[in-house]
Amino acid sequence: MVMTQQYLAGELSVILEEVQAAASSEACARQAWDLRLEAESAPVTALPSAAARALALINSLCWESLALGDTAAFARQATVCGELHEFGFCAHLLDEELTPKHRLRCGALREEARQMTDNTEGQIPEPRDEQISEAQIAVHWREEEYFAPPARFIGQANASDPAIFERFTEDKFPECFREYADLLTWDTYWHTTLDTSNAPFWKWFTGGRLNACYNCVDRHLAADRNKAALIWVPEPESADPVAVTYQELYRRVNEFAALLRDFCGLQAGDRVTLHMPMVPELPIVMLACARLGVIHSQVFGGFSGGACGHRIADSGSRVLITMDGYYRGGELTDHKVKADEAIETSRREGQEVGKVLVWRRHPGQYASKVPMAEGRDFFVDELLTRYRDHIVAPVSMPAEAPLFIMYSSGTTGRPKGCQHSTGGYLAYVAGTSRYYQDIHRDDTYWCMADIGWITGHSYIVYGPLALGTTSVIYEGVPNYPDAGRPWRIAERLGVTIFHTSPTAIRLLRKLGPEEPNKYDYHFKHMTTVGEPIEPEVWRWYHGAVGKGEAVIVDTWWQTENGGFLGSTLPALQPMKPGSCGPGVLGIYPVIWDEDGNEIKAGSGKAGNICIRNPWPGTFQTIWGDPDRYIATYYQKYCKNPDSKDWRDWPYFANDGAVQAADGYYRILGRVDDVINVAGHRLGTKEIESAALTVEEIAEAAAVPVIDELRGRIVEMYVSLKPGFTPSKEIKGKVVTAIETEIGKIARPRTVWIVADMPKTRSGKIMRRVIASVSNFTDVGDVSTLANPEIVDEIRHHVQAQKAARGEVPRELTPEEAAEIKAFGQAE
Ligand code: WTA
Repeated sequence: MVMTQQYLAGELSVILEEVQAAASSEACARQAWDLRLEAESAPVTALPSAAARALALINSLCWESLALGDTAAFARQATVCGELHEFGFCAHLLDEELTPKHRLRCGALREEARQMTDNTEGQIPEPRDEQISEAQIAVHWREEEYFAPPARFIGQANASDPAIFERFTEDKFPECFREYADLLTWDTYWHTTLDTSNAPFWKWFTGGRLNACYNCVDRHLAADRNKAALIWVPEPESADPVAVTYQELYRRVNEFAALLRDFCGLQAGDRVTLHMPMVPELPIVMLACARLGVIHSQVFGGFSGGACGHRIADSGSRVLITMDGYYRGGELTDHKVKADEAIETSRREGQEVGKVLVWRRHPGQYASKVPMAEGRDFFVDELLTRYRDHIVAPVSMPAEAPLFIMYSSGTTGRPKGCQHSTGGYLAYVAGTSRYYQDIHRDDTYWCMADIGWITGHSYIVYGPLALGTTSVIYEGVPNYPDAGRPWRIAERLGVTIFHTSPTAIRLLRKLGPEEPNKYDYHFKHMTTVGEPIEPEVWRWYHGAVGKGEAVIVDTWWQTENGGFLGSTLPALQPMKPGSCGPGVLGIYPVIWDEDGNEIKAGSGKAGNICIRNPWPGTFQTIWGDPDRYIATYYQKYCKNPDSKDWRDWPYFANDGAVQAADGYYRILGRVDDVINVAGHRLGTKEIESAALTVEEIAEAAAVPVIDELRGRIVEMYVSLKPGFTPSKEIKGKVVTAIETEIGKIARPRTVWIVADMPKTRSGKIMRRVIASVSNFTDVGDVSTLANPEIVDEIRHHVQAQKAARGEVPRELTPEEAAEIKAFGQAE
């Protein structure tokens, strides 16, 4: 320990010498010198704070040089920044070993340093001595430590000039988004940037015409014909990665578009449901649809046949496109069986599917046990021989024509088909991919999400391909065959940008904390998306996965939004673990309480995060249900339902959030009874209605339980109809029903059979009470319930069993406890 201390003190002193040399004024040099003296003579407990203050000092110098346009000084300072930053990381490790009292002190000093970064004059304020409660400091210390982007990243970033913020200020809205639309190739340029005449059904770039497939494929041929557009990594490690060049993608998309048009008779405006795994054929099908103006609706491959069937019926698709099987966790799964179930479900809901196109994972072989239905099911590899070398002209679509539908969960049992536009959506994902993902044409970009979710649509397929980069697609699970797999793929392919979810990061950290170190890859940029990330997990991502060389963007957004809403602009805004950052360019968020009073930044209070303005990537409506679109997202804070002015129609995101004094948001989670399991949105009501299909079940309630790896997991409470006795079989039936109706991803960890549910006098199930039981938190006041005595009975039963299985969770953070307490209020 003493050795480490001496080493760190020496290191810091050396770096501070460089800070001093890089200082642009006498005053700064003096500050650096003072800090250096402090570092050399200070006890170990003061080291992290000296490092944090030095970092803040050099940071402010960097910004100053940038503003002055002094690039030489900036480069010098930014390099020191990077070194200090690394030092900060070591120092952080050190202060893990400190006593709690010292840690509190470090937290307070870091806070000072943070404020100093905001101080353009670069003055170091004296540390304040006022008393701050332990809880407050703990939160500050955990959240408010800044990490600066490495100089090397800043030097090459697409957005490295702070003038970009000026271009997207509110007074420039909506014209600021011209910059995004100009990244695309238009057949006809638009005449109106934002048409609000039918608010809140926004229309972007009206008058404009374009084709999304042309923008993602054809236009790159001239310069990059034989560059890889996609690199597909099959799950079995014995199989080599497969590169699909832009030229090959062009050929394959055209052939499949010809098949869709000539064999299936599909045309612009028709809907097609896809239920495909992570194979290159999935983007090929999506792009072929886009080429014809056919609206695709890809259902996540892990969803059950039943879930797929509901979505087929809702979208009115006549054609289903699927694959016979795919590899997952070492097994070749039978996927075609789900198509048969899907068609059955959809038929019951009144929608007939005329054709099922079945890709084969290994062309010529069939991976499924279920027969092909004569005249309905067709092998795509056989059909394609008829369309060899066919070319289909891209159909020029109006900017506001729908490009795709993506279903997502909400408060009611019926999933919402979020309808996304062609021009606005594509412009938004191209713009955000360029500035926030920092994608360059020569990057090798790997987003490990599934294309069946919005992240995959926007940031595996449309955004990266619109920019003409190389996008990697991985078929399998991250830890197959071991937790080193992602890093082997990164090394083998030379991945430069990596994008994944907190759940995957937690898993890889748990299973193989040392694995990244064993492989020679270098990311310049990494993304986290889909759920809040714990600061400790963030730090592992940054230090171990990113090797301290990569920037991280924590991107907050939703299926409805098409692209990012909250994030840091990586070269220009420092990172802060656990916070997504401020609103992105052209997005002006606000937090309101239930009554529409603004909750100010830095107040420490949480509220509903809303976006005050529309943006090009936003969904246009809920497919077939415009009233629900308004009711769910726009009614709550609408200032005047007759208004045509966008200012009167803020978007209610259904997420809780807090905003720190620096403008960064921390997203706390859903306020609409959606449970976010491993980054996947599951509607409580959908799970419950699946459970209710079991004959013996009278009532069902799904609640979230905080989980170390998956963020939240589902626990199910059921009560039985009279005459039935609790049994393992019934529990098994409930699990099977949920897997059949929704998919394995919604599988509850436990099904608790209870004598009765805690209820209000009007008969409403009090989900927050059982959620508190499952999470071992205070159930609150239950005296007003119709049956308060049941609460203790359930608690004893459930908590005793959980304790016996070693499932007692850690103590919840105040935010988690608040979430559990609020659960079930959305009805
Ligand atoms: C949550 C995924 C914290 C949030 C793109 C949101 C996040 C829901 C973040 C949308 C983040 C997404 N930090 N929470 N960076 N990103 N969420 O529709 O609750 O699958 O409303 O879209 O995930 O999930 P969806």
